[in-house]
Amino acid sequence: MKEYKVESVFYLCEMKELSKEDRELIDAAKRATKGSYAPFSRFCVGAAVRLLDGTIVTGANQENAAYPSGLCAERTALFAAGAQYPKIPVVALAIAARKGRGFTKKPVPPCGACRQVISGTEDRHGRAIRILLFGSDGVIACNGIAPLLPLRFTEF
Ligand code: THU
Repeated sequence: MKEYKVESVFYLCEMKELSKEDRELIDAAKRATKGSYAPFSRFCVGAAVRLLDGTIVTGANQENAAYPSGLCAERTALFAAGAQYPKIPVVALAIAARKGRGFTKKPVPPCGACRQVISGTEDRHGRAIRILLFGSDGVIACNGIAPLLPLRFTEF
């Protein structure tokens, strides 16, 4: 048998090392946490999606007493963008989270289901999505979902 190794490249950045567009998207994700409905986890997540024409669409996690019926911030934002601007490609996605007032020190990586939806959005538009995970100690930047979701499922 043949062994394969997967290499994931991502960048740990300070805010000042990022472009104006990246910083603007992160700020939108931070602001979006205000729309979180998280009475069960108290973990408020915000996501902001930038489209190719510069439009920013945001989302926040929405919980439900029947827990699995809730939805993560990333999917809320990506599905809203897909529904409102079906023809315009998504170029970047930023995520920020806070428990109480302060934002997390460490970046919060998207859950597996959200990674799959990011992957599907890349496939839909045929274009990689830049992913920015905000932490007050540093930001992780990743060019495309591939480093976060190796050997991913795509339509056959
Ligand atoms: N959550 C997100 O919004 N995004 C993620 O990538 C991980 C988790 C939400 C779901 C739930 O409302 C809360 O965070 C705690 O898991």
